[in-house]
Amino acid sequence: MKRVLILLLLLGLCACKKETVEDKLRILGYTEEAIRVICSLPETQQKQFIETYDEHYSELLVSPYFEVDHLEEYLRYYGTLSNDKMMEMVNQGLLDENTIFRMKEIYESDYYIPAYEELYLQYLDQYPSVRQMMEVVNTGTYKPFFTEIKETDMSKGYLILVNKYYTLAADYEPEDLVGVESEYGKGYLREEAYAAFKLLHDDAYKLGYNIRVVSPYRSYDYQVAVYDKYLQRDPQEVVDSYSARPGLSEHQTGLCADVCIPGIYIDDFGQYPASDWLAENAHKYGFIIRFPQNKEEITGYIWEAWHIRYVGVEVATDIYERGITFDEYYACFIEDHE
Ligand code: DAL
Ligand code: ZN
Repeated sequence: MKRVLILLLLLGLCACKKETVEDKLRILGYTEEAIRVICSLPETQQKQFIETYDEHYSELLVSPYFEVDHLEEYLRYYGTLSNDKMMEMVNQGLLDENTIFRMKEIYESDYYIPAYEELYLQYLDQYPSVRQMMEVVNTGTYKPFFTEIKETDMSKGYLILVNKYYTLAADYEPEDLVGVESEYGKGYLREEAYAAFKLLHDDAYKLGYNIRVVSPYRSYDYQVAVYDKYLQRDPQEVVDSYSARPGLSEHQTGLCADVCIPGIYIDDFGQYPASDWLAENAHKYGFIIRFPQNKEEITGYIWEAWHIRYVGVEVATDIYERGITFDEYYACFIEDHE
């Protein structure tokens, strides 16, 4: 009898034992990590987490950006961006519906480069569309041309980028230059680019377009002479819009050529059907129109209907179909970003 009484007493004591905050939170479904965070908050806030529960709270609570005052906004924007990014922006008062909408466009874009996330946010409001802003950030053209010029990554082979930010070494000279036979034009090209050009030429020729190489490989020293000659004629700003500074010319790669049909000025080539054919078909042979129309702000050069660059059929076709510049293609799909 005595034993039974003691047992009943013990059971009664257990039943009366107060449920702790941790217990309540656990029952609601908070994770142990989230419970630890809640328990470090003042009592009134702990109560709040007991009285209201949301399945996303546990995740939000453990973010280094968690601030209890912004809970409601965190829930409103949950799932739009990564939690940390979203919470950081909420804390700074930077998120509204419109910003979220545009940021989603960034993250879902084919052209999103994670290393540039901060830059996208910085320039988000400065361009008419998200796409335009991303093109500028991806190509670095928010910086004036010729700033922070780097040596280009030669390990990229046929896909090396040479533009107003990426230079070749002055002594770079391709090892596999071959002479262009007179029926195809003149000068020198790298072997693979020349073989591809011959196919292009032969097919064009059958259609009545005699597309010939006028100016292919140019050495660094030759480009010095070309650029200096133009400087005698035009102010530097104008020269820079149509001629590359030495080291910054694709012609030094041996992978590009200025082409033309006989009997016309090269500057007029864009007005001829041969140029339309070239623009629509060059990719099938591995070439791109390197300085397209309406991309002057990105490439840094006026439209050059005659300047073709070899990148191989696969990449050329991809660039053609996307309708983007090689500068942006390189940044998005070829360049190594830390
Ligand atoms: N005309 C092109 C930009 C060059 O000089 O390489
Ligand atoms: Zn050219």
